[in-house]
Amino acid sequence: MNESRPASMSSFWMPFTNNRDYKANPRLLVSAEGVYYKDVDGNAILDGTAGLWCVPCGHAQPKIVAAVREMIGQLDFAPTFQMGHPAAFDLAEQLMEYTSHKFGHVFYTNSGSEAVDTALKIALAYHKARGEASRTRLIGRERGYHGVGFGGISVGGIAGNRKPYGVMLPGVDHLPHTHNLEKNAYTRGEPEHGANLADELERIVALHDASTIAAVIVEPVAGSTGVLIPPKGYLKRLRELCTKHGILLIFDEVITGFGRLTTPFAADYFGVEPDMMTTAKGLTNGVIPMGAVFSKKFIHDAFMEAPAGIELFHGYTYSGHPVACAASLATLQVFKEQNILEHAKGIQQYWADAVHSLKGLPHVIDIRSIGLIAGIELAPIEGKPGTRAFNAFKKAFADGILIRTTGDIIALSPPLVFEKKHIDELFEKLAKVLKNLD
Ligand SMILES: Cc1ncc(COP(=O)(O)O)c(C=O)c1O
Repeated sequence: MNESRPASMSSFWMPFTNNRDYKANPRLLVSAEGVYYKDVDGNAILDGTAGLWCVPCGHAQPKIVAAVREMIGQLDFAPTFQMGHPAAFDLAEQLMEYTSHKFGHVFYTNSGSEAVDTALKIALAYHKARGEASRTRLIGRERGYHGVGFGGISVGGIAGNRKPYGVMLPGVDHLPHTHNLEKNAYTRGEPEHGANLADELERIVALHDASTIAAVIVEPVAGSTGVLIPPKGYLKRLRELCTKHGILLIFDEVITGFGRLTTPFAADYFGVEPDMMTTAKGLTNGVIPMGAVFSKKFIHDAFMEAPAGIELFHGYTYSGHPVACAASLATLQVFKEQNILEHAKGIQQYWADAVHSLKGLPHVIDIRSIGLIAGIELAPIEGKPGTRAFNAFKKAFADGILIRTTGDIIALSPPLVFEKKHIDELFEKLAKVLKNLD
């Protein structure tokens, strides 16, 4: 294994990174096992973010590693256009079982962004297939993150991800976000105030007419803009309104899928059934890139009534890649055999107690938690938004913990196999960082 520093860092144009700052003072990871990374200097780094919300079962899970090794030797690639291989079909059946058969079909992609664009395209094509071609509008939400495809940034609600590009999908509108520090600060679980914000969909329907709207897409818990937890009753209300107006409801479960809230999906946690779910990340335990769109049977079946031929003109060369399928099948096996969800349920209270114990530390203006997620919001340095939290991120890494920041919010999402001792280590170190932050 090459654990030395790269000879040059100049050619890699790094994603979502302050390249110049990073390259002046790089943080290099060279290996990972369980809930720890190791950096290039041999320091152990406790993974407080499951990589990028990706690794529910912990790093280097032997079953997943072995499954990937075996498949790569057996079937390194197979197309899925007018062809197939057993693992893609087996995985689809097992994924449906994992949803307790609430969904009927799965469409494979390679990432969350592709899953989002796929779901949006399916929504548009579904209405057209049923003779409602006027339903072309897509409704997202402010502060939503749905990846970086043109569909995803259009329905997404992050100004910085949209402004540089100018061109967006036409006909998109946005619900308001639900973040309200004045009313909901320091909440555990779902906040009390804000279910009425779902009624904004009625306003959007009145403005555009339901006959022009194809789908609403939201993250059940918004992750990338800083852990925004839906107010009590909000998602149920959104479901009711979508049903009332014949609008498809898509949950973007790219971070919440595969146990993040201690249930298979956030949809299960909140008891609300969307018509489609987009997933990625934990689907393969982050080991091999893969995304998937889960679709209700009625959506898929609408396409099967067309005259014989290709029903959906969409797909990726690597849709259902055999090695990704093997990684995902092994991930589902690990979830079952190691009772990952039960373990996560068992520690969620301890997790919440630990994060809320940071209340009162310098600069902390809110703490929120749900499942194995936590958001810690800091007061910004005047005139320098995001700097305070980013400084915390750098200090934390130097002290041996990986945290994630977005704006001035610290977002935590550990591997679900975290134990109490890891929670203690994470929050002891984080408290020290916060106490010493300018
Ligand atoms: C809710 C959500 N949707 C979509 C994406 C995009 O996924 P990817 O980076 O795999 O394209 C992300 C990534 O963090 C996400 O959090």
